Amino acid sequence: MTILRSLLFVPGNRANMLQKALSFSPDVFVPDLEDSVPTDEKANARAVTASFLAKLSDTGSLVIPRVNSLDTGLLEQDLAAIITPKIYGLSIGKVQTVQEIAKICGLIEPLEQKAGLAAGRLKLIPWIESAKAIVNAYEICSSSKRIIAIAFGAEDFTNDMGIERTDDDSEIAYARSAVCIAARAADVVALDTPYFGFRDTDGLQRDANTANKQGFKGKFAIHPAQIDIINAAFSPSPQEIEHAKDVLAAFEAAEHQGRGTTSLNGKVIDVPVVKRARAILQMADRVANQLSLKR
Ligand code: COA
Ligand code: MG
Repeated sequence: MTILRSLLFVPGNRANMLQKALSFSPDVFVPDLEDSVPTDEKANARAVTASFLAKLSDTGSLVIPRVNSLDTGLLEQDLAAIITPKIYGLSIGKVQTVQEIAKICGLIEPLEQKAGLAAGRLKLIPWIESAKAIVNAYEICSSSKRIIAIAFGAEDFTNDMGIERTDDDSEIAYARSAVCIAARAADVVALDTPYFGFRDTDGLQRDANTANKQGFKGKFAIHPAQIDIINAAFSPSPQEIEHAKDVLAAFEAAEHQGRGTTSLNGKVIDVPVVKRARAILQMADRVANQLSLKR
């Protein structure tokens, strides 16, 4: 499974910000052609983004631009501009049904072939950001092998619901959880909505930790200062790694004595606890491998 902890949005029409982005190292760059670009800048954004794809990809981070939704009439031109071997895939705004995914895949196929890419090589990350999308999330996740993750968009979701965004996030708790469960059921990764208070590092840390506890595996960033905090929230901490090692050692010692359960510091160690410890160590290995590949 690809590591997608931090995904940095960069407005696709802003050459200076795309240039600046090259000096950072998120897991994924997301040059945006959608809602951070004003309508009369859409064509410019395609051209500017296209001219940066090779440079972004050469940094070793994945490049997964965000394109406009099917109903905007902008998607065909977006895809034509950005489908090249330099992108890992596409993130697509405001997906609501499996029928849309089928149409989007139908548009991608000939362009992928024209770019000399193997069929199915380009991955997809649909944005789940309306009531209808939440209800259809599992079907959407399961509708194409291209889909590796789904992204939850809180601002569009609360707009669609006609409800206010508040600081305690209680209004999005169900939707966030529904996205995580649907993603897990379909064996894809859930990615969390960006945190807009880009100067509030404590707030971001709390928010990312909440998302991690709920089952998200990564989160979008809107500012480079958010990357490290997000990476840390979605990576096992040194304490978690040490504890996981202790759990495995205690369990193996118990197994040698013919026992299937034991305890550590007053807590039961049984099969699910051991599975979780192994998962933490695997994730720690994947993070370490990813870092060494980038160097
Ligand atoms: N990607 C690349 N560079 C970025 C950046 C981003 N997402 N956000 C900020 N920067 C750059 C700035 O251009 C500035 O560069 P400089 O020092 O060369 O001038 C530097 O980082 C510091 O930025 P700062 O002054 O702290 O913030 P700002 O006021 O310039 O920008 C935002 C704040 C919110 C406007 C900006 O971060 C942004 O546009 N983010 C993306 C929003 C987005 O994509 N939304 C769509 C998804 S919801
Ligand atoms: Mg949105």
